[in-house]
Amino acid sequence: MRRGIQTLLFLFCTFALFSQTDHSYKFTVPQYSPTNGNVQARENFQNMKYGLFVHWGIYSILGDGEWVMHNKKIPYTSYSRLASCFAPFDFNAKEWVAMAKNAGMKYITITSRHHDGFSMFRSKVSPYNIVDATPFKRDILKELSDECTKQGIKLHVYYSQLDWGRPDYGFGERIVNGKPEKANWRTYIDFMKAQLTELLTNYNVSGVWFDGQWERYDANWYLDEVYALIHKVKPECLVGSNHHIAPLNGEDIQMFEKDLPGANTAGFNTKEIGKLPLETCETMNDHWGFHINDRNFKTSKQIVHYIVNAAGRNTNFLLNVGPMPNGKIQPEFQDTLKVVGQWMSKFGPTIYETRGSTISQQEWGVATQKAKRHYLHIMNLPKSPFIFLPNIKEKINAALLFENKKVVKFKQIPEGVFVYIDGLKADALDNVIELQY
Ligand code: GLC
Repeated sequence: MRRGIQTLLFLFCTFALFSQTDHSYKFTVPQYSPTNGNVQARENFQNMKYGLFVHWGIYSILGDGEWVMHNKKIPYTSYSRLASCFAPFDFNAKEWVAMAKNAGMKYITITSRHHDGFSMFRSKVSPYNIVDATPFKRDILKELSDECTKQGIKLHVYYSQLDWGRPDYGFGERIVNGKPEKANWRTYIDFMKAQLTELLTNYNVSGVWFDGQWERYDANWYLDEVYALIHKVKPECLVGSNHHIAPLNGEDIQMFEKDLPGANTAGFNTKEIGKLPLETCETMNDHWGFHINDRNFKTSKQIVHYIVNAAGRNTNFLLNVGPMPNGKIQPEFQDTLKVVGQWMSKFGPTIYETRGSTISQQEWGVATQKAKRHYLHIMNLPKSPFIFLPNIKEKINAALLFENKKVVKFKQIPEGVFVYIDGLKADALDNVIELQY
């Protein structure tokens, strides 16, 4: 008897553990063939390499990150009062876009709606939006979209599938047969589809960045309908999801959070790298949304290295800022972005439009590749007077320092290429050697 109970308990625990770690999506999303426009958009996306992520919402008022409602257990009814206090009259789309451009960024991905359910755009299907629920009454997404178009910057929207407040989401409910047990899941799905249609038709949106699927891996998110809708309304629009699993049918980008592809220091990233264009995101301190007490700022060197390490892995880097409740971006972020922008204005040609090189990652750094050039980004100067690049198939014609075109000595043998690095600076952000073939 006792044994029987023990076995049952064991089986139950194993099942619970297994079902918790099984994050695959159990519902069908049909394969789709991207249109030519979409394929071109993917190429353009990969060419951009570096973008600005923006986490902004009514939570910024509390200066405690975008998870404050959940973390501080603030009831929805109390939290939603923040909307009536949201008056970011210093918001200036032109300044934001110019800041991103000067930082060398080519696109902006902004939270159109985060897990708190507040829409940062005019929405007919939810009064809980920036135009109808705040004294500010301005559609910041519209202003940003128009400004991005004007200044030649692409705009993507972050869209949270998870919602802490709507009754039809049923946050906290058990999922049974792919749906929350009691909530009206279908109206929630239709609501998202209506909002996505608004986003794609009223704004100049080039990509949708989904987040929150990880909250209920066993739910049917109707991705078949949702992804098809997006590609029907705007075929070239790029779809990606931060679901932390391998890409699903209907997606155009594979995304990683706080890790380079293949790594999993964050603890939730998949190590599976698919064939789609790649993007990873990180934030300038330790929070996505504005945090008044977070001074753990990354240095410009760390950020340059992140850009380079991402590019060397054929990956875009999306760098986040959380603007303040007045609509300004804090000076610490702006200062760092400026420095990185100066670096990008010099070394951009070794980053933009490149693809990951056939030279794999090394102790000293990474390489990027384009137009018969390998760019060796040496970020950790080795002690040896040379580096060795194994298995180079192309015949190398010249090697030079990218910065000043000074000749660099090299020797090619059948097994690879020796590059002599005696002239490099130990304190440089990055030493770039151009190999021409
Ligand atoms: C996580 C967080 C979310 C943030 C996102 C950015 O999914 O839940 O707050 O927006 O990461 O990558």
